[in-house]
Amino acid sequence: MTNPKDKKVFVKTYGCQMNVYDSDRMADALATKGYAPTQEMEEADLVILNTCHIREKAAEKVYSELGRIRKMRDAKKEKGDGEMTIGVAGCVAQAEGEEIMRRAPVVDMVFGPQSYHRLPELLDRAHNGSRVVETDFPVEDKFANLPKAKKEVTRKRGVSSFLTVQEGCDKFCTFCVVPYTRGAEASRPAHQIIAEAERLADAGVRDITLLGQNVNGYHGEGADGKDWGLGKLLFRLAEIPGLDRLRYTTSHPRDMDEELLAAHRDLDSLMPYLHLPVQSGSDKILKAMNRQHSYDDYVRLIDVIRDARPDIALSGDFIVGFPGETDEDFEQTMRIVREVTYASAYSFKYSPRPGTPAADNPDQVAEEVKSERLYRLQELLNQQQTDFNASKVGTTMTLLLERKGRDEGQLVGKSPWLQAVHVQAPEEMIGEIVTVHIDNIGTNSLFGTITGGHSTMDRSKISHREGINT
Ligand code: 5AD
Ligand code: SF4
Repeated sequence: MTNPKDKKVFVKTYGCQMNVYDSDRMADALATKGYAPTQEMEEADLVILNTCHIREKAAEKVYSELGRIRKMRDAKKEKGDGEMTIGVAGCVAQAEGEEIMRRAPVVDMVFGPQSYHRLPELLDRAHNGSRVVETDFPVEDKFANLPKAKKEVTRKRGVSSFLTVQEGCDKFCTFCVVPYTRGAEASRPAHQIIAEAERLADAGVRDITLLGQNVNGYHGEGADGKDWGLGKLLFRLAEIPGLDRLRYTTSHPRDMDEELLAAHRDLDSLMPYLHLPVQSGSDKILKAMNRQHSYDDYVRLIDVIRDARPDIALSGDFIVGFPGETDEDFEQTMRIVREVTYASAYSFKYSPRPGTPAADNPDQVAEEVKSERLYRLQELLNQQQTDFNASKVGTTMTLLLERKGRDEGQLVGKSPWLQAVHVQAPEEMIGEIVTVHIDNIGTNSLFGTITGGHSTMDRSKISHREGINT
């Protein structure tokens, strides 16, 4: 620690869970420079916007936020409260680079997701008066060079954690910027992931979600030196004592291989919840999107997954109003949703992203048509989510108690299906996995009563359920 003054960093995170993970990694890197996190932008010595570029107007939102921050920084300085250094990270930083420096003179540092391990050094350069732009693709292993959080810090972050195993995407869906902003698929070696998962478990984490832009495209060097897919990695992680719950997101239907299906069939700790975006139900649109599968391929795959794990709940992403989408095409999307049935889903209006093939398609769909389709789709998806939640009333399930609820004496836990469940329980029980009976549902959550504890430390997490074939 170079400076005795307690310095503060405020990180504002936009977008996906990978950014949430990355923001913590930035905090870890900055902890080595004596920075502690703050939730108040006004009191920060360093403000970082960890941006997302996936959908419309991402860059514009960042520029308007920077305008607000400039005012705050100037007011702080005027009051004699010290300087504020301002950084832009994440996918907008990666995509816009120098452009941000040109348009927003308030910014001191622009750095892409591959340079987070170098943040202390970038900060030194900024403090020495440089305007820093760092958007190179990896020349070194960022993950191997990121500092590890102290056990107390990890513990404070809670009993559920993300763990990035893979970055980038080679699929080139024609609407998506990810292959351009985040580059080609790159997987972390298994030993690194296992060590990180062990550290998390040691700090009390019990539920880990493995992350990647195309996570089931994971192909990393295994602990045995051979190439491991995600299935193999999950089997290995399931052996770590204390790690009771594993999940992964987000995946592509083309990468659900045999071993991953076997993991869903054989691993109790692999939670029965799968986010598997289909985007559209129309074969014509799927082709135009370069999804590399048809309606039937997807539905058949869902059947195989449900055979492997009958209680699995599905989640998906949908895009309405992709260029050339007719009413009939949209009806196919409605049809696939009715046929598959989702427990939750994300749906979006298509937004043309500069530099992607679909953005140049002259056959763009009118805004009102997109809005109307989105409304209808969301009505159906919301109904399915409510039905799914209602189907759990009267059942018992395990619950990982995560945090205090709004009411006195209440805790909120996470179900195997990612539902929030409220129960009456003392704060000391946070981190425990209990059995609950579900009494009723609210708008976005369930309410239950604890019926028993649930010891997991001494049981084998691998159970071979009988009679299930892939
Ligand atoms: N327009 C609308 N939605 C998009 N997504 C990605 N790119 C676009 C776009 N250009 C959605 C997809 C993807 C999710 C992360 O964001 O549904 O699965
Ligand atoms: Fe984008 Fe996902 Fe398609 Fe990759 S698979 S190009 S991240 S939508």
